[in-house]
Amino acid sequence: MLLSRGARALGSSALSGALALSGDALVGGEWVRGSARFDVVDPGNGAVVASVADLDADDCTRAVEAAQTALGPWRRTLAKERGDVLRRMYELHMEHLDELTEILCMESGKATADARGEIIYGASFLEWFAEEARRMYGDTVPEAVPGRKILTYREPVGVCGLIVPWNFPNAMLTRKIGPALAAGCSVVCKPAQDTPLSTLAIAKIGELAGVPPGVLNVVTSTNSSGIGGVLTSDPRVRKISFTGSTKIGKMLMRQCADTVKRVSLELGGNAPFIVFDDADLDVALEQFMTAKWRSNAQACVAANFIYVQSGVYDKFSSMVVDRVSKMKVGHYTEPGVDFGPVINKSQLDMMHEFVEDAREKDAKILLGGKQMDRPGTFFEPTVVGDVTDAMRLGREEVFGPIAPLIKFDTEEEVLERANATEAGLAAYFFTENAKRTWRMSQGLESGMVGVNTGLVSTTVAPFGGVKQSSLGREGSKYGLDDYTNLKYIAMQIE
Ligand code: SIN
Repeated sequence: MLLSRGARALGSSALSGALALSGDALVGGEWVRGSARFDVVDPGNGAVVASVADLDADDCTRAVEAAQTALGPWRRTLAKERGDVLRRMYELHMEHLDELTEILCMESGKATADARGEIIYGASFLEWFAEEARRMYGDTVPEAVPGRKILTYREPVGVCGLIVPWNFPNAMLTRKIGPALAAGCSVVCKPAQDTPLSTLAIAKIGELAGVPPGVLNVVTSTNSSGIGGVLTSDPRVRKISFTGSTKIGKMLMRQCADTVKRVSLELGGNAPFIVFDDADLDVALEQFMTAKWRSNAQACVAANFIYVQSGVYDKFSSMVVDRVSKMKVGHYTEPGVDFGPVINKSQLDMMHEFVEDAREKDAKILLGGKQMDRPGTFFEPTVVGDVTDAMRLGREEVFGPIAPLIKFDTEEEVLERANATEAGLAAYFFTENAKRTWRMSQGLESGMVGVNTGLVSTTVAPFGGVKQSSLGREGSKYGLDDYTNLKYIAMQIE
């Protein structure tokens, strides 16, 4: 049973709500208690909010077996039937919007409006792929040999292992299960240890919506490497989709080599956020607030290096400090809160290390810079000025509430610096100059570019990067491709 020792009215109602989460995992249509349990902690106050099944590698193998058994009947259903199930999931997702929001808040620490935004974003992938299921088109190809017809069509890749991060535990799951189920794949989902509740809630929604037993399995566990080991080595798993750190992504990719699995990766971002002298600074500031601080400043598309041209550096820095200092930080149950804690102690420690390194190398701490004096893993929203490439903040992905401001002089210089990273997920720049807009859009080595906007994420556009940030694309009309194989049939009929 889920606990509510945090004794908060909101949390309690979410856990005992209509979805009636037990904290059990889902294997082959059965809710499984597991031989051990682990605690889920609210990062906003340190309270234990749930006890969840701690499954092991053998349980994961059973989930793969269940997914393999369920695959045949599921892939043979009509695309419309799969679309109808996904549509029902979408409707239930929206019906349970408040409950899902609270579940997400209590395990991730997100502020309520932010979490609500993620739930709506998450629902949109179910809706989108409910529609896309019927658009899994193939081609007919003009014949190359007399009488030999050539046709192509798309088949589901098979059983998929979906490994979901803690920073968007709802939307990153639906962005994967949406296309997987639409294509006719069955799935074994492994949520992050910090945030398993959102995944379990979606599994419950799947059950209520009529997803057949074994098509959608959830393996909750503290043994990420053991579960990952099964998913990447079992030959029945034909594809792994992972969103998370670059280091783990590379390791999973190596592990998948022996069974030559399809691999989709969404990894680190290191996004540059560039403000030119000719930008509308009010627009740039508002968009910076989204690009940097969304999801408690823990997004792979978050503005990471804030490059500001020398002519507006002082003005924009003080605008940033003023605006960030007005954010209300706190627990999601407190009124008016728009920013929460980092996910856990290890993220908190990383924030300290970044600030200490910058301080030692003569950066200016313009705002914040330390842990907040309250329960939970809160780090003050921090702005650091005069950051140089010699500092960790000038080179590494922060993934937390520190905004490094970096001064630059010319367009050529900033383009070179922005591209001098192995990542290439998202990039943002702000200018009113049309020619520069085109030059920069072309020049940035990045899968997604925001011009005068700090939000590129949307269901309808392909999400993904270049260089070491991504393999594949999620969402959009391309999102199904990663879950299908293109089969070609040559048919000699004359
Ligand atoms: C992320 O994975 O951190 C980005 C989520 C999104 O914006 O879609």
